[in-house]
Amino acid sequence: MEHKTLLGQSALQVSRMGVGAMTWGDPKGLARFHPAKTAYGGADGFEEEQRALELSIEAGVNLFDTAAMYSGGASERRVGELARGKDIFIATKYPSGFSFRVEDFPKELEASLARLGRDSIDLYQHHFPNARLSIPKLMGLVADAVEAGKVKAVGVSNYSAEQMREAHAALAQRGIALASNQVEYSLLHRKPEVDGVLDACRELGITLIAYSPLAGGRLTGKYSAHNRAGGFFRRILPQYNRKAMDALQPVVELLREIGERYSKTPSQVALRWLIENPTVLPIPGAKNGKQAKDNAGALTFSLTADEIESLNQLTLAWRV
Ligand SMILES: NC(=O)c1ccc[n+]([C@@H]2O[C@H](COP(=O)([O-])OP(=O)(O)OC[C@H]3O[C@@H](n4cnc5c(N)ncnc54)[C@H](OP(=O)(O)O)[C@@H]3O)[C@@H](O)[C@H]2O)c1
Repeated sequence: MEHKTLLGQSALQVSRMGVGAMTWGDPKGLARFHPAKTAYGGADGFEEEQRALELSIEAGVNLFDTAAMYSGGASERRVGELARGKDIFIATKYPSGFSFRVEDFPKELEASLARLGRDSIDLYQHHFPNARLSIPKLMGLVADAVEAGKVKAVGVSNYSAEQMREAHAALAQRGIALASNQVEYSLLHRKPEVDGVLDACRELGITLIAYSPLAGGRLTGKYSAHNRAGGFFRRILPQYNRKAMDALQPVVELLREIGERYSKTPSQVALRWLIENPTVLPIPGAKNGKQAKDNAGALTFSLTADEIESLNQLTLAWRV
């Protein structure tokens, strides 16, 4: 079974899935209240983050995703610290704040390099588009950073199909491929299938990096209307309320039923459903070694076409 793939049309090899490190790190001051920490609650501390990284590498997962914005840079600092001396692929995102202007790009890049303790960033992603910001102008500066050897592959995140095409075209003028677009994608959020993003990725040879692939924990099977998830966002967002949790139980039951055939968990089946699409690369968040090891188990089995179709059919209500 092939555990590796090329990231988009770059020459960089990555594992078929990664690890989301959004909840990692030890922020200070106000950064302790950043959504990266409060949405679901923080990870289980330095040792468990280290275990998560090491067990992932052991299982063949080499891509770790962070962002300048997560907990005021604490996640980047932690990933950099844990990665020291290890041959791993680090994906990070800019900017660090909402007042970003295109001309801030070089400063943002230097700050991320410093926090990561690296000379170059494997995948540097623009975190979210902004109507006030020129994509071609930004991509021009990103291309300069690639030519300077500071960025190995270029990505975007939360870009629409149209915005992706604009970034792709601007980079192509400099002979650089847009490697990835990171968007939310899971069995409970199938929007990329209908908004043109998945089709554009397939057409242009761009990897769709799927964030929140476990739907923030809802696809793990451990939460229900009676056992609700912790963390501020999971307490207030409608998709986690009792009614919504009841509505998704048939999905969890099917994940469990399929998983039993292969001795796999619901999380592993939910991640495998994404991995079965060669364009898609999920980055499940892991708060500890146990979760990271469990998630990496998605690499070691396959779903049949019938199983994929039954999951497709059962989650049509989330394909909007
Ligand atoms: N580009 C963007 O705008 C954007 C936005 C959001 C996220 N992301 C990226 O995507 C990554 C993942 O997304 P996410 O954290 O939002 O959602 P997710 O991967 O769907 O869910 C992660 C959460 O599920 C639980 N979990 C994970 N593995 C588990 C397992 N094997 N068994 C039981 N529970 C498990 C953990 O929380 P509990 O144990 O508390 O349930 C974990 O924090 C982030 O780390 C970040 O790198 C990017």
